[in-house]
Amino acid sequence: MADNTSNNRQTKSWYNLILHLHPRKVKPYTLRFTLTFGLGGMAALLVVIQVFTGLLLKFHYIPSPEGAYNSIQNINEGLLFGKLAHNIHHWSAVLLLWITFLHMMRVLFTGAYRKPRHATWIFGIVLLVLVVLSNFTGYLLPWDQLSYWAVTVVTSLMQYVPLIGETAKETLLGGQEVGSITLSNFFNLHTGVIPLMIILLMGFHFWRIRKAGGLVVPEGKKEEPLTDTYPNLVAREFVVALVLLAFLLTISVIFDAPLRERANPYFSPNPAKAPWYFMGLQELLIHFHPVFVVVVFPLTILVGSFWLPYVRLNDSNQGIWFLSEKGRVAAKYSATAGFVFTILFILISNMLPDPGKILPSVPAIITTGLIPFLIVTGTIFLFMNWLKKKFSLNRSEYIQSIIIVLVISYTVLSLTGIFFRGAGMKLVWPWQ
Ligand code: HEM
Ligand code: HEM
Repeated sequence: MADNTSNNRQTKSWYNLILHLHPRKVKPYTLRFTLTFGLGGMAALLVVIQVFTGLLLKFHYIPSPEGAYNSIQNINEGLLFGKLAHNIHHWSAVLLLWITFLHMMRVLFTGAYRKPRHATWIFGIVLLVLVVLSNFTGYLLPWDQLSYWAVTVVTSLMQYVPLIGETAKETLLGGQEVGSITLSNFFNLHTGVIPLMIILLMGFHFWRIRKAGGLVVPEGKKEEPLTDTYPNLVAREFVVALVLLAFLLTISVIFDAPLRERANPYFSPNPAKAPWYFMGLQELLIHFHPVFVVVVFPLTILVGSFWLPYVRLNDSNQGIWFLSEKGRVAAKYSATAGFVFTILFILISNMLPDPGKILPSVPAIITTGLIPFLIVTGTIFLFMNWLKKKFSLNRSEYIQSIIIVLVISYTVLSLTGIFFRGAGMKLVWPWQ
């Protein structure tokens, strides 16, 4: 009898803990085991894994140019399960970025960014930026050739931000070049400020999901009777978590986190490439003036993302993939156009002579900035108008199609930068 009561009490406290994160009842529609089920939950689990493995690594990592590289080697070779912890931290960071991005795409293409989920979306954007920053600040810590020069490439772009760029760069680097103060700044941001902000914002994110009345569902499904969270949702989440953990563990056992030779500030590899998630920007730098790459494009995307939930829309298509059947077909057209236009753009831009030589008297910001910018936006505008007429798209389907063009375009730019650029950032085949 006594045993039964204590068992009950234990079950109850678990139950209460779970129900602090979930509502007591959920809409059955949100329990469908789709390919995108639980992406947000996976991102949350990966953050927990990062904090846990990060704290373990912190016991042995030395944040100085003299000590960093050796301490990573010592973690890898001298510590029981040190290599595994390092590998998990590395692969989990990569997965976190992918999964957060896929979660965002799921939200975007089911229209879940609209009111009353606007605040969840806005907190989500900030979370994505923080996940990128935690990846970037972590990238420098191994202090090998790869990390040193990747951070040098990216931070050198900061100087192109008008007015504050140079000061911001010097403050972050603690001087003109990546050095001991940079490492210390990155370490403190990485292991203190950024994780704290992520955890706080995740709390807000979850609270806003509850306030919005749970996840988005299509019009016809809103009235369905609710079902118990425990065990229906919790059991499914448990399965997703186990599969994710098994996958992470498998890749961490098979593949080691890359570690090149120790950083050498006097010898730059050719080409020096940014981390993979910034390679799209580095590729754009070959075609556009830096001010456009560093300020105009990122700012437009950021402002557009914050503004998205407030655009006046004249339909209520939510909870359906690609918003409607014609939205789905238009999405395929947009993806194809994004793919083909970007490849053509890269090839044509590669063949054209340097505009500075043809028009030496015109400022570079016009020849390599404004003119290509107008050509690209003009092409997208013409294509979008054609698509709108062909499928009689409403405003939300129209916006969705532009986003698809941009996402596919960034993917093609990134793949080109990662695989098709060799010495001097010249176009090469990956096997050359
Ligand atoms: C969202 C959370 C986090 C992400 C995305 C992340 C990402 C990364 C990445 C990409 C690296 C480089 C790993 C490599 O390739 O060798 C790294 C290193 C490191 N991180 Fe994190 N990290 C996160 C949270 C944390 C936290 C919370 C701590 C500690 C409190 C931490 C401590 C470290 C340490 C000590 C290193 C250097 C050792 C190593 O390279 O593995 N990280 N992190
Ligand atoms: C560390 C990053 C993130 C974590 C841990 C996280 C976590 C979650 C979780 C657990 C959910 C519940 C449902 C689900 O699993 O899909 C959710 C929903 C949501 N998230 Fe995130 N999220 C993150 C990033 C983002 C980003 C980048 C965005 C968009 C910019 C976003 C926007 C939303 C929205 C709008 C919902 C509500 C979806 C709906 O009603 O169907 N989140 N998030």
